[in-house]
Amino acid sequence: MKKVSQRTWGGRFSAGPAEAVKKFTESVSFDWRLYKHDIAGSIAHAQGLAKVGLLTKVELAKITRGLKLIEREIEAGKFHWDADLEDVHMNIETALIKKIGAAGKKLHTARSRNDQVATDIRLWTRDATVLCVARLLDLQRALVKLAEKNATVVLPGYTHLQRAQPVLFAHHLLAYVEMFARDAWRFEVFGIEMQECPLGSGAIAGSTLPLRREFVAKQLGFAGVTQNSMAAVSDRDFLLEFLFSAAATGVHLSRLAEDLILWSSAEFGFVTIGDAFTTGSSLMPQKKNPDICELTRGKTGRLYGNLVSVLTMLKGLPLTYNRDMQEDKEPLFDSADTLLNTLEVVAAMLGDIKVNRTRCEAAASDPLLLATDLVDYLVLKGTPFREAHHLVGALVAEAEKTGQQLPKLAGRKFGRAAAKVFDVHRALAMRKIIGAPSPKNVAAQIALWKRLLK
Ligand code: ARG
Repeated sequence: MKKVSQRTWGGRFSAGPAEAVKKFTESVSFDWRLYKHDIAGSIAHAQGLAKVGLLTKVELAKITRGLKLIEREIEAGKFHWDADLEDVHMNIETALIKKIGAAGKKLHTARSRNDQVATDIRLWTRDATVLCVARLLDLQRALVKLAEKNATVVLPGYTHLQRAQPVLFAHHLLAYVEMFARDAWRFEVFGIEMQECPLGSGAIAGSTLPLRREFVAKQLGFAGVTQNSMAAVSDRDFLLEFLFSAAATGVHLSRLAEDLILWSSAEFGFVTIGDAFTTGSSLMPQKKNPDICELTRGKTGRLYGNLVSVLTMLKGLPLTYNRDMQEDKEPLFDSADTLLNTLEVVAAMLGDIKVNRTRCEAAASDPLLLATDLVDYLVLKGTPFREAHHLVGALVAEAEKTGQQLPKLAGRKFGRAAAKVFDVHRALAMRKIIGAPSPKNVAAQIALWKRLLK
């Protein structure tokens, strides 16, 4: 019976939960990570209560001091988390009451764990978002740096993983810089309701007590307060949007990883990843594996999984709060951890990559990659595009059949000037329209990104 009354909600129960139930329902083993935001939320809530006379000045001071003490204990690893107390909220509240007595019992006035947890995870996600954006910027900087270092290296661009047309290595990397810029943008603009404070929504229907919601929201750095108490406690859109932003970033990281895996293989040989960012084989002594890239690719699955998991968890829930929603936290934490770690290690790895110019340029020197340039040349001479395409196609077939070089055949068939289109540097310099990889364009893009990422 003693145990029963210890629970903050134990009043109407005559028996405590079964052991298996405790284990099944507890969340403190993972939601302890909300402690900082939970405490900040509680201090702001207490300040609000004091404003309207529901707490005395002395009580507010006691609560604030007690909570800050608890925060320090947690940070020092000295706080005892008790799974019997279910979650981070009840652990902290119980510890506060133990520490300061009667005043602590007033903290939860006009509050429910429903608006409390809704507030905590908004605050947590807000901070995680700032970190993700900062790491994305670091990654972009690493890409731009690698691009600048190899600004003049030419390599084949691929479609269908078949050599298509020559591009600059830097142009290829800058494509990723753009993707990660969009990702950072998504993190920044999504989750708009993270700006609104749910505190005061109570369990579902607000409170009869005269709370100063706007004041509390301001203390916590929110732009305003939520307008519908039911929406406030049941909404996890901001969390979905965070998970989606993470998953979308995962797509881009995974594609970059795949490019690097291909490029570092003996078949391509375009880049060498530094020893510090590769691993060996337990059996084959010669192996040097791009495990960082592979794990990056692999971890993307978790980022998708976490999004799908929360989408699925939410879809059948009647309004408002349901305990199912406790399942939002592990995916949130996992996506944030996974993404932050991945962004950090990939950015570091990019600083330890050597580009093999000779291999890149040898691969890009295949005249077939400039067959399209010959078509353009004929178009400029007045041949309709479809006809030119056909003519050059026939020439390619002839080159393949007879083993003769395409430039030679082109010169013979269309005149000496036609053979000149096969100079790869000239071909790149000609690609000067907006978005195309002329060295001049690419240099300008590098300069632009350097400025933007300062
Ligand atoms: N641990 C819970 C969660 O994460 C806190 C909210 C619980 N609310 C409730 N009425 N049981 O969702």
